Amino acid sequence: MSARWIEAELEDADTAPERRRRSIKKKLLGRRRLDDLTAGHPEQIADDTIRRLIDLGHITGIVAELKSGKEATAYVARGPRGSVLVKLYRELEARSFKNDAAYREGQVILDERAARAMKSRSRKGLEMLQAGWVSAEYAHLWALWRAGLSVPEPLVGPSPFDYDATTPAVLMRLIGTEDQVAPRLSDARLTPEEARSAWQQAVQGLADLLRLGYAHGDYSTYNLLWWENTVIIIDFPQLTTRQNPNFQALLRRDAHSLATSFRKHDVGQDAEQTLREVQRLARGWGPEPRIVLP
Ligand SMILES: Nc1ncnc2c1ncn2[C@@H]1O[C@H](COP(=O)(O)OP(=O)(O)O)[C@@H](O)[C@H]1O
Ligand SMILES: [Mg+2]
Repeated sequence: MSARWIEAELEDADTAPERRRRSIKKKLLGRRRLDDLTAGHPEQIADDTIRRLIDLGHITGIVAELKSGKEATAYVARGPRGSVLVKLYRELEARSFKNDAAYREGQVILDERAARAMKSRSRKGLEMLQAGWVSAEYAHLWALWRAGLSVPEPLVGPSPFDYDATTPAVLMRLIGTEDQVAPRLSDARLTPEEARSAWQQAVQGLADLLRLGYAHGDYSTYNLLWWENTVIIIDFPQLTTRQNPNFQALLRRDAHSLATSFRKHDVGQDAEQTLREVQRLARGWGPEPRIVLP
């Protein structure tokens, strides 16, 4: 997998936002205007966030930009305990923030003002939604990691007090190495034997989620990594629980997209059969929980 080197850009980033902020101040036209001007520049948000992560001691520097996905940019970084994957949520206007109603149904938002802001889709509301997705991704990563599932280890937390400070970024263990980041199963080239093993692990992974009462919400080879003959599940902001009235539909869709996306590897089953297999395995034993030291 190719990584775009951006060290030069980041060196520059040390000074650029300061300059930008000064010129913005000159044009200050009251608080609302300043908010409009400073908010929403994706590059500045990325620069500021990366500097904050360094200040907080979570990373020592960025090694490469890995990939820009549909709503986040993934960076390879170096941290005090090894290589880090920084998933930086980029745009407030991104697709799934807009179409997230199906996932959020059944969620209770206790703060009425927050509920109104989210509903109105104002900038403040969208920021709250985005912060909600970031902390949801951390919370899910911690829950699944503790339960022993094959997911990347979250590197900030488990206290929300700690991980809320990294918004809009999620920090987790890099799967693979800095030189050879683990490919997604959608990109990996597998032998027939590897493909069969990957399929079994992927079905088991969906069953492990179901046993804990979750549907992934976007389960396919695009969100499964392949490293040392092991499948690792990623991308959890939209994980849903049984409280969600759309739970069964989302689970069925997960099983279907898993089956469809595996066709390229010449393995898999019919989609409905896959769903039944997932339900059957979910009634069996799960993985050993991991002990997380404080
Ligand atoms: N822990 C990780 N280790 C290595 N690569 C990762 C890791 N997490 C994500 N990636 C890479 O970053 C990409 C984007 O991450 P993902 O969570 O799927 O975000 P999205 O699809 O919403 O942009 C993935 O497709 C994968 O290639
Ligand atoms: Mg993804």
